[in-house]
Amino acid sequence: MKVTRALTETSERLAAAGCDSPGVDAELLVGHVLGLTRSEVALDVSRKLSRAEEKALERLVARREVREPLAYVLGEWGFRRLTLALDRRVLVPRPETEIVVERCLARIAGLAEPSVLDVGTGSGAIALAIADEHPRALVTAVDASAGALEVAGANVLRTGLAIELREWDLYTGLPDGPWDLVVSNPPYVSPEEIEALEPEVRDWEPREALVGVGATEAIARGALDVVREGGALVLEVASGEAARVAALLRGLGYADVTTTQDLTGRDRVVEGARAA
Ligand SMILES: C[S@@+](CC[C@H](N)C(=O)[O-])C[C@H]1O[C@@H](n2cnc3c(N)ncnc32)[C@H](O)[C@@H]1O
Repeated sequence: MKVTRALTETSERLAAAGCDSPGVDAELLVGHVLGLTRSEVALDVSRKLSRAEEKALERLVARREVREPLAYVLGEWGFRRLTLALDRRVLVPRPETEIVVERCLARIAGLAEPSVLDVGTGSGAIALAIADEHPRALVTAVDASAGALEVAGANVLRTGLAIELREWDLYTGLPDGPWDLVVSNPPYVSPEEIEALEPEVRDWEPREALVGVGATEAIARGALDVVREGGALVLEVASGEAARVAALLRGLGYADVTTTQDLTGRDRVVEGARAA
């Protein structure tokens, strides 16, 4: 079978399965099997797949057809400048979380060796991106999930970036600082909302990474005990929740509370500074 036919057949099967962007998925899956980028695939459409490559593609397409997230099927995913290993033990890092990192970097830009705590690190995405883009940052990343910490550990090795990983339950308070910055993309989906989400999220991503009643509040309160005066808290929030979380931070005494939009214009990041 030639690449062109592999692309068409894969795309048709994924469209029939209800996948959002079957053409892009097909290019990435075929590229993964052939060891090519998407643009290289487009330039090599008359190449012939070997039998082994056809079989490998079939296995991947069958997984994606049952709406397993593309990132798990590929086993890796891009986040800012990094390519991270991913599997079912961790949330797939989202584009809006790249904005969270942007805000963190802005907050610590002037500091020589800022101490940073990432709460609920999952794959390590936020912590590793900060360590990558502010190379002198001293980053600690915590998660309650041992499985997530294993994936984050694999990503430490994969990226060669130095961060500290610790198992920690955010509902017991936050690890002692003082931290210049506490950041979190906490679980913020309500138990009632989960069934309405797309199958990739509802059926495949870890429930404990999605649903977390009161996690945002616990982190906002906990950070007051461990962020140094003038230090910052940066939180990713659910769509439609920014005003409530901004009011929460103001009510707790945070100063300079601001909100940032994601690339689709929705308020998704709320941050504030611990007042002196
Ligand atoms: C929304 S995911 C964020 C993952 C990653 N930071 C990202 O942005 O892609 C939330 C993370 O919080 C972790 N988590 C859930 N409950 C927790 C708890 N009680 N204490 C610490 N971490 C928790 C989950 O295991 C998950 O990795």
